[in-house]
Amino acid sequence: MGKIYEKAMTEEEIREALKDDPVLAEEPGPTAPATIQEELERADKLYGEAVNYAKSFMDNVREGKPFDFQDATPLVNDLIDSVFRNDSATAAISKLKAFDEYTYTHCINVSVLAVILGKRLGYSREKLEMVGMAGMFHDVGKAIIPPHILNKPGALTDKEMDVMRTHPVHGYKLLKEQPDIPEEIIRGAMEHHEKHDGSGYPRGLKGEQISEIARLLAVVDVYDALTSKRVYKDPLPPGKVLAMMYKWRVTDFYPDIVEQFIKSLGVYPVGSFVRLSTGEHGVVTDHSPEHPLNPVVRICYDERMRPELKRDVNLAEDPDLRITDVINPDEHGVDIFKLIQ
Ligand SMILES: [Fe+2]
Repeated sequence: MGKIYEKAMTEEEIREALKDDPVLAEEPGPTAPATIQEELERADKLYGEAVNYAKSFMDNVREGKPFDFQDATPLVNDLIDSVFRNDSATAAISKLKAFDEYTYTHCINVSVLAVILGKRLGYSREKLEMVGMAGMFHDVGKAIIPPHILNKPGALTDKEMDVMRTHPVHGYKLLKEQPDIPEEIIRGAMEHHEKHDGSGYPRGLKGEQISEIARLLAVVDVYDALTSKRVYKDPLPPGKVLAMMYKWRVTDFYPDIVEQFIKSLGVYPVGSFVRLSTGEHGVVTDHSPEHPLNPVVRICYDERMRPELKRDVNLAEDPDLRITDVINPDEHGVDIFKLIQ
């Protein structure tokens, strides 16, 4: 037996012994799996940087200044790394922290969620980068929409809605003017409001006529819009939005894509505030694709919303316990971010 087995080895000795084996000696890379808590902390910082980036390019476009499309590449790659470390944390972060500027946060959320869906669909890293970039720039045409319509604190009139609906064409033109932007990204901006049955805009494209990346963007765009807080509406809980989208899956979306999106986030995405069959309340902290209806829940409040000793229960291992309702945590002044951490 070789020297390597003679005694317990220190970490340093193990690394030394394995140094010539290219696979075994590899240090954990930027995509090594992380826990929800570990990744939430990293994703929080990254998300803040990403929103600042979105603000700077949208503001530049609005002022008619040039923007360098390739500047987004490192940021998109950092977001993809975060998705590989723990996609539940990356998906949750945008819903856990209060950011008010929807136009900017929406670019990042669509980019991240489209990457999560693309990963579920088995896309290569290269294709995920394309998807992430397409998400980042899908609404760039909104920079051309007059601010009093874009940021109107209420429902739009029909006339204002017509103006708003020009943003995909503006986006197409803006991206087409830039050198070397891949066709898929330009079509993502142009086609993300098209619907599978042809009832979308601006061209009323149907089914396969809509580009592959635009079909992904369409799903995550609707999800983010409905789960986001706006001046004129409260956010809907993610679990409720996914149920609504499941109903619209045949008319609005490409076959099977909503189902795949639900599998990637879980029926009750991480960060959902739920009521259990015992009447107690808690926050979803983890899920597995094998048990979409039975995530891990951190119970924090009793049936009358009085705080109780926090405990984690895995509903997949407890057949007597199930989720009976999804609740808007804002209505109870609950800070989900703190409860998960
Ligand atoms: Fe849009």
